[in-house]
Amino acid sequence: MKTDTIVILSNRELDKMRQAGRLAAELLHHLEPMVKPGVSTLELNDEAERWTQAHKARSAPLNYKGFPKSICTSVNEVICHGIPNAKQILKEGDIINIDVTPIVDNYHGDTSKTFFVGTPSPVAKKLVEVTEECLRRGIAEVKSGARVGDIGAAIQEYAEAQGFSVVRDFVGHGVSNIFHTAPEIPHYGTRGKGKRLRPGMVFTIEPMINEGTWEVEVLKDGWTAVTRDRKLSAQFEHTLAVTEDGVEILTLP
Ligand code: MF3
Ligand code: CO
Ligand code: CO
Repeated sequence: MKTDTIVILSNRELDKMRQAGRLAAELLHHLEPMVKPGVSTLELNDEAERWTQAHKARSAPLNYKGFPKSICTSVNEVICHGIPNAKQILKEGDIINIDVTPIVDNYHGDTSKTFFVGTPSPVAKKLVEVTEECLRRGIAEVKSGARVGDIGAAIQEYAEAQGFSVVRDFVGHGVSNIFHTAPEIPHYGTRGKGKRLRPGMVFTIEPMINEGTWEVEVLKDGWTAVTRDRKLSAQFEHTLAVTEDGVEILTLP
């Protein structure tokens, strides 16, 4: 199958995506109470791996294109793909995105949230709230017959009206028995443009919204993507299925 082909999932495949999606949401929910000052991002990773194995699933990020850990932990100016590390200790006022992707029976559930460590600064609070609303507005565009550009336009219009910027270098993606596949779902764009959505398509929406510039820099580890101005970045992600009458969020507990 060429990777630019958008697959339409069968009902049997959609059921597997529901199982994987539910497990992904439950994993995030399980990790949430650990997000406190003093915890290291490696401790979050290790608990995620332990819990995933205990639920007879696998962690898709581990060894994916050489990624060394089981989850991504992206703190403050890190946009995405932060690598868990014993020396990185969460502190009061940080924001951290935790992105998990368990594989259940070969199908992937991909979801992330940004959490506050203690009490956030006013700008951190606004950024995180705006980013979650961006995801909500993106999802609200999803229905059979709509276009991929409708999703990005809704997200970009809201983020920029709130004074923030939309990351261009990373996009949502088709997800099924393959972690990253067609279609690409940019979080910016033009209404009425792009591929048409059809029932049975499954993809993520995962806006990364920045306090300052949208420009990205990748650190020397080859993974960690940070804002060029080192200002804050937040992200939320769900895996979604287009249905006959709208959208189903697969990554809910
Ligand atoms: N879960 C991320 C996404 O939303 C991908 C992580 S790839 C990794 O697409 F290699 F960094 F783990
Ligand atoms: Co993800
Ligand atoms: Co994703």
